[in-house]
Order: sequence, then structure tokens, then C-alpha cells
Amino acid sequence: MESLLLLLELASWSGAAAQEAWIAALEGGKVLFFPKLAFELKEAELPMLTPAVLAEGSRNISLGADGALKGAAGDAATQAVVGGMIGRFREQSQQLIHSLLPQYAPHLRVAPTSFRPMQVETRSQSWRADDRRLHVDAFPSRPNRGERILRVFANVNPEGVPRTWRLGEPFEQVARHFLPRAKPYRPWQAKALNAVGVTKSLRSEYDHLMLQLHDAMKADAGYQQGAQQQVVPFPPGSVWICFSDQAAHAVQSGQYMLEQTLHLPVAKQYNPESSPLAILSRLTGRPLV
Ligand code: SIN
Ligand code: FE
Repeated sequence: MESLLLLLELASWSGAAAQEAWIAALEGGKVLFFPKLAFELKEAELPMLTPAVLAEGSRNISLGADGALKGAAGDAATQAVVGGMIGRFREQSQQLIHSLLPQYAPHLRVAPTSFRPMQVETRSQSWRADDRRLHVDAFPSRPNRGERILRVFANVNPEGVPRTWRLGEPFEQVARHFLPRAKPYRPWQAKALNAVGVTKSLRSEYDHLMLQLHDAMKADAGYQQGAQQQVVPFPPGSVWICFSDQAAHAVQSGQYMLEQTLHLPVAKQYNPESSPLAILSRLTGRPLV
């Protein structure tokens, strides 16, 4: 089986422009893995590596594009330290992506940055919210009409614990497997969901199909076990990036990770034809947005 991962020796956040082969791998749905690129914590930030920094009922702490911190417990001083750590990760992630992928840079839209201090193995969740099952990312309430979800991840575990993922089969195979059983798109239903505020804008057929793939993958126990997959332990002090709307992934174990999401219009990819939107349009034979 061809590896779903491309290992790169880069050791600096201000990196280097990506070679053509790296871009083709990333836009082809592979994970770019930087084992030598560490997100360094400051001494004062080390005490933040505890689930106790989470506010009651929160699973993650997030820093909004507007600088607002959500999900953090503790006094103002503690929150400033957590916010500072997440903010620095946001800057370094952007620096990394801008230097690797200069063509993307002017077109990226920054989404909130998250810090995930919970131990993955002990989380209990509904099947649909359970990221321990293979899936492609799709957001039920925020339709994106094909816009890409590019994510930067850093394992900051202080005890040597890897964040272990499973990577699944290429997107086109996922789509060929699950499209035949996808429920058809109903424009009236999309309008109704929007009218009652379930979605923040009108769900396109693309958004509908991506959610169908997401749910069908997670709901299928046989697929979870039997599908082509590769287990990848990402060690502390490493970074990995992928288009998470395309790379089938599941998290198996780990604790303490930072994550930055960046959105990119399909047209600004080096090769828009490799996008989930283009693949799904080709397989269904119609435009989906
Ligand atoms: C996900 O995007 O599925 C979550 C990955 C993780 O928490 O490591
Ligand atoms: Fe995911």
C-alpha cells in the first residue's frame, strides 16, 4: 500500500517553499509530517498541560480570530498564559503555511485555533462526534460550498506520549464506496435547516454529500475495521498538516495537541482538480455548488 504520509525534514517554522512533489502529495490528500519541527513551550506555559485548564463542560480551548478565548478555566493571569500559547501557535502555523505554500497565502481565511488537553482514549461521545472513527471533516452547521479545510497540528505532550492517528484510503475511494448509499440532496430541506438556524448559511449539495460521507464512514463498523488504513504515531515535538476534508483520518490516542484551521478557496489550490469538490462533481456528473 502506498504510504498516506510524506515525511519531511524541515526544522524551522519559517521553512522553505514546498517542492512540487510535496504540494501534489498534500493536495492529493496525504499528510505532510514534520518530525523535526517542534512547537516550543515557554517555561510558564508548562503548567497549562493539564485538563484542569478546561472550563466545566468544555473539551477544547479555542482562540477566535478576534482574539477571544473560549473554554478556559482559571483566573485572568492563567487565561493570559493559555491564550498566549495558543496565539503563538497560530502565528507560527501561519508562518509555516505561508512559507511552504506562498500561492495560498493571500487567500487563506483563519479559523479559530484550538488547544486539546483531554486524553483521547477516555473521551465518551456519540458515534457522530467520535473522531476516533475514520472520517473526513465536514461541519453540519457551517456549510463551506467546497472551500478547503487545511489544518496544522502539533503534539505538545510533555511525557513522550504520541498522538496516534489512523489514516484511511484516498478520498476518491471513500467517495466511490459511500456515494451510492448517500441520501439524495433536497433543496427544500436545506432551506428549512437554514430557516430554523440549524445551518448558518444554505447547505449546498456539496456540503450535504460531505456530511453523508462523514456520517456513513463513522457509522460503518465493518468499514472502520476493514478499510485500508495506516496507523501513524505522531511524537511530541512534531507537526503534521493535511486537508482534513480529504484525508480520511481518526485519532486513536494521545493528549495535548494544538491545532490551527485555515480555509482556502478551491480555485486557489495549485491543482483545483484534486479537490473533494472536483472529485465529487466528476463522480456525480453535476456541479454541486
Ligand atoms: C480530528 O480532526 O478528527 C481530531 C484529530 C485529533 O484530535 O487528533
Ligand atoms: Fe477530523
